[in-house]
Amino acid sequence: MITLTIDGKKTQVVGGATVLEAARKLGVYIPTLCQHPKLTPFGGCRLCIVEVKGVPRPLASCTTPAAEGMEVTTSTPQLEGLRKTVLELILSDHPDDCMTCEKAGNCTLQELAYSYGMRENRFRGERRTYAKRDANPFIERDLEKCILCGRCVKVCKEVQGVSAIDFAYRGFQAKISTPFEHDLNCEFCGQCVSVCPTGALTGKGWAKKGRQVEVNEVDTVCGYCGVGCNLTLNVKGNEIARVTSREDTWNEGWLCVKGRFGYKFVNSPDRLTTPLIKKDGKFVEAGWDEALQYATDRLMEIKGKYGPDAIGGLSSARCTNEENYLFQKIIRAGFGTNNVDHCARL
Ligand code: FES
Repeated sequence: MITLTIDGKKTQVVGGATVLEAARKLGVYIPTLCQHPKLTPFGGCRLCIVEVKGVPRPLASCTTPAAEGMEVTTSTPQLEGLRKTVLELILSDHPDDCMTCEKAGNCTLQELAYSYGMRENRFRGERRTYAKRDANPFIERDLEKCILCGRCVKVCKEVQGVSAIDFAYRGFQAKISTPFEHDLNCEFCGQCVSVCPTGALTGKGWAKKGRQVEVNEVDTVCGYCGVGCNLTLNVKGNEIARVTSREDTWNEGWLCVKGRFGYKFVNSPDRLTTPLIKKDGKFVEAGWDEALQYATDRLMEIKGKYGPDAIGGLSSARCTNEENYLFQKIIRAGFGTNNVDHCARL
């Protein structure tokens, strides 16, 4: 264990922990943009600078390892002035469209600009403009809002193991790019969207569906497969505006393309909401009691005529374990046959 002092308070962390982690353990707030607790440190934004006794310049706390006896100060007029300058530089070519931005109200850059009172900018000048929009079906990439924090690059490589994007070019031309600047063509897990601290990456289906303050967050479990990832449905009115996942869940907030973007069926007008019974070759709407009675009568008729082995049941990986257990129970105990199978076995 290493003992260090942060803002006059002593704390202990395990060897290898950073100054930022030590500060967070103490509940001391240090602003960050590029740092993410699940990704390796990058040290790109320089907002997390701190003063360390005996070191003549500020250090990025997210990349500085805690050391025995270290004395750290996290906030001084000089540090706050430098942070404000860094923010000014980041915002100097950032679009001023918070009023219409999808991420407004849920944007780390906006929160920092608010808390540092960024009304003026001494560095306004050349703007980056990217006319081309990415034609992929799921992820809106607005590179004008990208602050090059690199979180998307890191999550794609370190969590998803895909490396579909990386930094390209240098200086003012630097940007996050796909190989040869083609349209994004990846697994579309959307981990990059979930870690983006600005409006640079959002879901294509999210546009104008509702700001974060307007949605009701409903926690649930994904029904697409047996893994059971935790989802948070962001619901506005009676419609899912988007799907997110919390970092404190067992899946750590990471999802796959189905869980994150495959939610449109819930509000689809094509969805069956009433049972249908085929009469004279045509499906006719029926009540639940009528449909269940019809199915029971027909199954019992088949069983009586041809025996229980004339009946078979095929279940689905989209059902819960409990539903699948009950399904095999009704087939085995109710109908008396072991003709039961499950699509996941394929
Ligand atoms: Fe430390 Fe960005 S959070 S440099």
